Amino acid sequence: MNSFKTVAKVSDVGAGRVKVVEVEGKRIALCNLDGTIYAIDDLCTHDNGPLGEGEIFNGQIECPRHGARFDVKTGKVTCLPAVMPVKTYEVKVEGTEVKIKS
Ligand code: FES
Repeated sequence: MNSFKTVAKVSDVGAGRVKVVEVEGKRIALCNLDGTIYAIDDLCTHDNGPLGEGEIFNGQIECPRHGARFDVKTGKVTCLPAVMPVKTYEVKVEGTEVKIKS
């Protein structure tokens, strides 16, 4: 997919919360960081943990399985045991709709 696609309503992703959506067979975690929505794969690069079930704090999301952390904006690892970054997606908000490009 090379164009933006509506995946959720802005109101679906509350401040500091995560919402997982499925887009073309891929699970993507929408993360609301201080009112801005970012999108990352719902798949921890350590051992495929469900990142979308993790908590967000200090701009990072923590994997609920073994505690790896990733920068929500960049996908970079900020805490082991993961070493590879998680994929991020471009997000655009239009009106009440959240759109991502994947
Ligand atoms: S699967 Fe995420 S830290 Fe291990």
